[in-house]
Amino acid sequence: MFNKLQQRWKVGPLGLLLVITTFALGGSLCGFLGKRAIQLLEIDIPAIRIGLYILIITILWPFCVLAISIPLGQFTFFKQYLQKMGKRLFNKKQHHVNAPVPLAIFASGAGSNAANIIAFSQKPENKAAFRVALVVTNKPAAGVVDIARNAGIPLLLIEKEPFFTGGTYVDHLKELGIEWIILAGFLWKVPAQLVAAFPSRIVNIHPALLPDFGGKGMYGHHVHQAVLESGKTESGITIHYVDELYDHGAVILQAKCPIVEGETVSSLAEKIHALEHRHFPNLINQLVQNAKS
Ligand code: GRF
Repeated sequence: MFNKLQQRWKVGPLGLLLVITTFALGGSLCGFLGKRAIQLLEIDIPAIRIGLYILIITILWPFCVLAISIPLGQFTFFKQYLQKMGKRLFNKKQHHVNAPVPLAIFASGAGSNAANIIAFSQKPENKAAFRVALVVTNKPAAGVVDIARNAGIPLLLIEKEPFFTGGTYVDHLKELGIEWIILAGFLWKVPAQLVAAFPSRIVNIHPALLPDFGGKGMYGHHVHQAVLESGKTESGITIHYVDELYDHGAVILQAKCPIVEGETVSSLAEKIHALEHRHFPNLINQLVQNAKS
């Protein structure tokens, strides 16, 4: 053990003895001063006394150790030692703050939005505030399954019964540290339990300008068909928070596109997808970033 410490601190046997003595004397001095400070403060409640004592000795400790290190000729060692400790603590905090936030994408279809969000998160130049930690689907044959596999992202295939009745998936998502849920063409209604577990952290994209053309059964070409039949001259996308109702939560962003003469369901779907791909990843990034700071 002593050999290991000598190697780690790059000191000889005498140096090690002096370093250990400094730690011991510095610690004692710190404990003594802490006790005196508590006596002077005359606090009667034991819990507060203990809490304050811990706080005081934590603050005093580096100063006491440095003070003792001077007569023992160990000042340079301890100055560097404390600097290293400070850096380690500070860097850990920085790393935590800057670490990409894990999110899950829920999708039931082709998954072009999922692919686009994943691609955005993986481009270093985007410095994305999030990472796609999980893809969730209710359809084993959905295109999004291959997208997740090819991107090396874990896939969770969910079943109706536990999704709508139990908390199984909530626990699973929490265990994975998932902080946001992005619905990108997910066709099941989100159960209240999941909404409650991720308040204002579930976001959906809808291929029309809500509140029109939303609700049960309004997905994919059904939406575009309805928009064209309505005679509207524009359509667009709506990105919104998810609540217990279909296509109902607060709108975060809408973007529009014109409907031109001779527009078809597929030409409109193409325009809508282009809008989705342009806006969705950036918006997710902004939301996650804002929630962090
Ligand atoms: C998108 O148009 C989205 O608005 C809707 O479902 C579609 C999914 O498309 N919620 P993709 O599977 O991402 O290509």
